[in-house]
Amino acid sequence: MILVIGGTGTTGRIVAAKLAERGHPTRIASRRPFAGGVRFDWRDPATHPDALADVNAIYAIPPIGEVDPAPVMLPFLERARSGSVRRVVLLSSSAVPPAGHGLGLVHARLGELFAEWAVLRPSWFMENFMGAQPHAVSAREHGEIVSATGSARVGFVDPADIAEVAVRALTDPTPHNTDHVITGPEALSYDAVAAVLTEVGGQPVRHRAIDAAELAERHTANGIPPDFARFLASLDTAIGAGAEDRTTSTVADVTGRSPRSFRDFCRDRLRGDRPGA
Ligand SMILES: NC(=O)c1ccc[n+]([C@@H]2O[C@H](COP(=O)([O-])OP(=O)(O)OC[C@H]3O[C@@H](n4cnc5c(N)ncnc54)[C@H](OP(=O)(O)O)[C@@H]3O)[C@@H](O)[C@H]2O)c1
Repeated sequence: MILVIGGTGTTGRIVAAKLAERGHPTRIASRRPFAGGVRFDWRDPATHPDALADVNAIYAIPPIGEVDPAPVMLPFLERARSGSVRRVVLLSSSAVPPAGHGLGLVHARLGELFAEWAVLRPSWFMENFMGAQPHAVSAREHGEIVSATGSARVGFVDPADIAEVAVRALTDPTPHNTDHVITGPEALSYDAVAAVLTEVGGQPVRHRAIDAAELAERHTANGIPPDFARFLASLDTAIGAGAEDRTTSTVADVTGRSPRSFRDFCRDRLRGDRPGA
């Protein structure tokens, strides 16, 4: 049985669907109970025993909006280890190296806790420009995407490619026992992203570059708590300094096929609708 935490979210729902398609018994964890899923909240230990019953492997995404998720994640993972769980695949981020604090600490401890493990460290998601995501809303309503990245580039990646790496890490007979930095096939600036959204979506979208303090204020105005807003803005500052200007061969190495380009992702998702639809 594979427990998919965040199984209703961006990567988790694709991971759960792929696992089910391939015949792996799968349990989706969600804070909202639904048929076939299990109620699970990182912050509510009373929900943990049912979620873990008979589970052998876990796809774990951290509690969203938490600057330091280690204090809620590590006790759960220790409980999982003392039960039936043998393998854990953690979704982290390219921006978070193993460290002595925060999600980096969970990463650093994973190999000590479990004999079979992997940490996925994707770059920024292509999904950030779709649906109800803030960039998509801004593109639709104001014809602009706003960042504090300047003209720096990011190796944007399709969540379906992350999910395929996750499924392999969860089910390959040989555990990966490593971290995977995952990118799309090319690094793009936000100007280049805006150009693709314009071309494929058929409505003009431009990139407006602002500074990190202004970006943190925008996040706060959108309801994000101030400390997390500052953290998110600091990630843009790091991008501006070139931290995400890279591509890796992880998707091809692990899955045997090339990652999808942002243009192909947009062609599939926008299908001639307005940008960000
Ligand atoms: N967006 C990016 O560009 C990017 C890049 C690199 C890494 N990441 C990382 O990817 C992760 C996912 O980001 P996302 O924005 O795409 O989110 P998402 O996967 O859509 O996250 C929402 C999911 O998390 C679950 N969830 C949230 N809080 C929870 C809690 N307290 N207990 C249990 N489940 C909880 C939600 O489940 P329910 O609502 O059903 O309970 C939902 O399935 C984040 O950790 C982020 O740092 C994102």
